[in-house]
Parts: sequence; C-alpha cells; structure tokens
Amino acid sequence: MKKGKFIVLEGPDRCGKSTQAKLLLNYLIEQGRDVILTREPGGTPTAERIRQIVLEPGLSVTPITELLLYEASRAQHTQEKILPALQAGKTVVCERYTMSTCAYQGYGRGIDLKIIDTLNRIATLQTVPDLTLVFLMSDKYFTERGEYLFSDRLEQEDLAFRKKMRQGYLEMIQRTPNAYLIDADKNISDIQTRVRELLEKHQV
Ligand code: TMP
Repeated sequence: MKKGKFIVLEGPDRCGKSTQAKLLLNYLIEQGRDVILTREPGGTPTAERIRQIVLEPGLSVTPITELLLYEASRAQHTQEKILPALQAGKTVVCERYTMSTCAYQGYGRGIDLKIIDTLNRIATLQTVPDLTLVFLMSDKYFTERGEYLFSDRLEQEDLAFRKKMRQGYLEMIQRTPNAYLIDADKNISDIQTRVRELLEKHQV
C-alpha cells in the first residue's frame, strides 16, 4: 500500500526542471519531510545503464527499441526504488515519468499512444503521480539555454519534433488528473512560488 506522496516534474529538455526539482527537494526537507529525488530514465544502477544506451549520440536505436528501453528503465526504477519509498511513507520527487514517453515517443515519434499507455501501466505497476508539474517554455530558450551544452540523442531532434511534443504536453495536461502547466519562461523564484502553491493546494 502506497503511503507517501509522488510528485513528478515534466517538460521538454532545458526547461529548468532539474533546478526546480532541487529547490523543491530542499523545501520539502526544510518542512521536515522524508524525501528522495530521483529521475528517469535512470534512478537505479540498472536503469542508469539503460539510460546510457538510450541517450548515446550516434548509436542506432529504432523508435520501438527506444520505447522499450525507456519502459524497461521505468519498470526497474518503479519496482526497485519508487514503490518501496512510497510504501515507507517517503515523498518521492521524480524528474520525468510516464508523460515523457507519451510526449517524446508518442507525440514526437508517432508511436500509438494506446500502446504506450499499456506499457506504462505494466512498467509502473499502475503507480500514478499525486501531482504532475509540466514546465513549458518558449522555444527560443531551448536554443539560448543549450548553446554551450552537450546534446544527448533526444536533444538533437529538430524544432518540428519539439512542437509536436509541446502540443502533446498541453493535451495531456487537459486529460490528466492533478497535472498543471507551469510557465517556465518566468524567473526561478516565481516558478518555485507557483510550485509551492500547487503543493499546498493538493496537500502533497
Ligand atoms: P533528461 O535529459 O531530462 O534526463 O532526459 C533524458 C532524455 O530522454 C530527454 O531528452 C527526454 C528523453 N525521454 C524520452 O524520450 N522518453 C522518456 O520516457 C523519458 C523518461 C525521457
């Protein structure tokens, strides 16, 4: 039985999720909460190995292989780390989860969303977030923020791919319970204020 709260941060690459995740972690610790910060793909030794494969630039990975690698990483991560933490009453903050697969492999690559939903259910053992925060920014920031960064295999996708994903995120926010759009063009502290408001509203 799940006792802890599960908070997921979602959104395209370079939208500021990691910065917000760390601020959120510190905030929750200050509140005296028992909390872990984790990420997908990855989060456990096996899942981190899968991450290296799926993100390696230049490696040949078909769309279906890519989908199955992300789901394999998720299955391992959920069973080995997320569920035990939730069962122990901890708060779990996770960068990316099922919505990323729908956005990138579904809306981006065009794989049937029904297939992805089924695989997500299997990989998560039906674990669903109590709150999903979706950070979306204007595309100009993607280029600005990435100018001096190393790009992994998924970040090398083009503007058309990013537009499809963005549209996907907007549609998913509409149909997902407890999912919210966060304007990632705003400054770091305004965004964190909004995050805390949503936590309070949902009592997570
Ligand atoms: P990160 O850089 O945010 O850690 O994420 C790694 C990349 O993997 C990022 O470009 C998004 C992509 N991704 C997918 O394509 N599908 C997924 O299911 C997940 C979790 C991430």
